[in-house]
Amino acid sequence: MKAALISLGSKSSLMTAEAMKKYFDEVDVLQLRDIEVSLGKESGILYQGEPMKDYDCVFLKGSFRYANILRSIASMLEKKVAYMPIPADAFSTVHNKLLSHLKMQQDNIPMPRTYVSSTIEAAKRLLNRVSYPIVMKFPEGTQGKGVMFADSVSSAVSLLDALVALNQPVIIQEYVETGGTDIRAIVVGDKVVASYKRRAQKEDKRSNIHAGGSGEPVLLSWEAAKIAVQTAKCLGVDICGVDILESPLGPVIIEANLSPGLQGISQISTVDIPDSMARFMYEQTKKIVEKTRNVGAAALLRDISIDQPKKNNGNGHAIISPLKINGDRIILPDFVNKMAKFSESKEYSIKASEGSVIIEEFDM
Ligand SMILES: Nc1ncnc2c1ncn2[C@@H]1O[C@H](COP(=O)(O)OP(=O)(O)O)[C@@H](O)[C@H]1O
Ligand SMILES: [Mg+2]
Repeated sequence: MKAALISLGSKSSLMTAEAMKKYFDEVDVLQLRDIEVSLGKESGILYQGEPMKDYDCVFLKGSFRYANILRSIASMLEKKVAYMPIPADAFSTVHNKLLSHLKMQQDNIPMPRTYVSSTIEAAKRLLNRVSYPIVMKFPEGTQGKGVMFADSVSSAVSLLDALVALNQPVIIQEYVETGGTDIRAIVVGDKVVASYKRRAQKEDKRSNIHAGGSGEPVLLSWEAAKIAVQTAKCLGVDICGVDILESPLGPVIIEANLSPGLQGISQISTVDIPDSMARFMYEQTKKIVEKTRNVGAAALLRDISIDQPKKNNGNGHAIISPLKINGDRIILPDFVNKMAKFSESKEYSIKASEGSVIIEEFDM
């Protein structure tokens, strides 16, 4: 089976591609920036100007800035590729915290109280009602870069004014006190394969490793593991990182990441995460390829069969097909034996006349 990993070429992606090579017969590592998608009459995906090859499994990775091209590639491949751990629409939903929270809300997944309002005036009224501190986030920020904290109405209002002036949409969220820590769980299929706690640097509230946070392995509570897997399921993805805050009232989810960094976690976790991902993708692809093959064979049988009840039990099929004859021997088409279930341990009555052979199980 052939697989492709399409990414921006990060170390984490290369680690995953290396692991995939242990399972798949062929693995191509494609640079996302070299891909073009065209729609309309001569639609297709071009890689470095040539039509992209066919694959059984495609793993697409990239940041929110590439959500449109990732979604386009995935959408074009959905009917062609046996398995993709991340379906097309997830590139829009998961890369946007508000859209993710809306999906999660539909499945009652616990999250911090989060507010959306229609106008700046409405947002200011809201800022007068909530308790402080609060968090303001760009729906599409990552690595802690779009997350701001405000300790009072006045700082929240001035932040909001600045963001509005920059034409930047924000979501407003309750601040969950965790002592500057959060938990990153890596979900693969219906399991959390690894998890670690990240601690923000002093003077920072954001615990992202990219924002200078440090990590340590952590054993997830049963509840946190359950909601992490539910989050992946509700967002429709098989592989992702899920960020969890352990609030005094239980775990809450703040976001999912389609392309979780693996370098940091690989240094603190004993689990081979790229291997878990690669093995899972291989098994899923194999299942689907085999199923498709069986369904294909069944359809072929149906296509070449003309429904005509067999004389003796009424549930056989007559077919019209040329005969393959080798010397004196007639070689029956494959599906004939599949249907008749002839066996060397049984006896048969064979009646031959010009233009006809009837072989029937001999009842003693
Ligand atoms: N509601 C919140 N309460 C407390 N801390 C938060 C909250 N939301 C985010 N944080 C902190 O900010 C960090 C980044 O937030 P997150 O929503 O995961 O955005 P990003 O996409 O930038 O990682 C989190 O890892 C966490 O440490
Ligand atoms: Mg995060």
